[in-house]
Amino acid sequence: MIFHVLTLFPDMIRDGFQTSITGRAVEKGLLSLDTVNIRDFSVNKHNRVDDYPYGGGAGMVMQAEPVYLAYQSVAEKLPKKPKVLYMSPQGKVFNQRMAEELAQEEELVFLCGHYEGIDERVLEEIVDEEVSIGDYVLTGGELPALVIMDAVSRLVGGVLHNEDSAEFDSFHDNLLEYPQYSRPEVWRDKAVPPILMSGHHANVEKWRREQSLIRTLERRPDLLENANLTKQDKKFLAKLKEV
Ligand code: ADE
Repeated sequence: MIFHVLTLFPDMIRDGFQTSITGRAVEKGLLSLDTVNIRDFSVNKHNRVDDYPYGGGAGMVMQAEPVYLAYQSVAEKLPKKPKVLYMSPQGKVFNQRMAEELAQEEELVFLCGHYEGIDERVLEEIVDEEVSIGDYVLTGGELPALVIMDAVSRLVGGVLHNEDSAEFDSFHDNLLEYPQYSRPEVWRDKAVPPILMSGHHANVEKWRREQSLIRTLERRPDLLENANLTKQDKKFLAKLKEV
């Protein structure tokens, strides 16, 4: 998977991405990061990439041409038009399903805006999807791009040590993850649930499934509508709802 990021702050993207698990995946050649500084494509002798909004109003707008040229510098090297995602609070709200779809692509281009936005004309020309990471407003698209890149990266084969771990994630099945425990067996008078010490694999799995159902019902009941529930799950949930 190759991520191309069009940004005014390439260091922020590189620093955020090239550490921890994603950084290791870059070193292993499973992921590749290509940052493109939009400012390198300024068409202004002062290296500016923004200007006042037509019609007046607060703030500055990123101009179309530097963004377009930055995009073209990526697209001209590729055999087909890559998918371009524009980070924007006006976009479709990102979720695990979108991460799964994006993980199927070979190349993704992230366009990060700053100031009050980007000239609409270049967005119409190059953007395939506007994506938001939630209903709040950030100072720029770099953190949203990093969030999405992280969520997509861990679904790329080989990035996680244990191939199973993405499968049992919260949201994978529209259920939240069960609680986890590690050593010591008793920590400050709090013991690990005894069933986890029983060595009985089937009972452990049943308990974990039930914990997932309990958590999802308590914290995110909206997810249950789209969850893949077995007959047994439904019976368990019905019982929970009775109490
Ligand atoms: N840019 C500013 N806020 C954003 C958000 N919530 N999601 C995506 N891009 C943004």
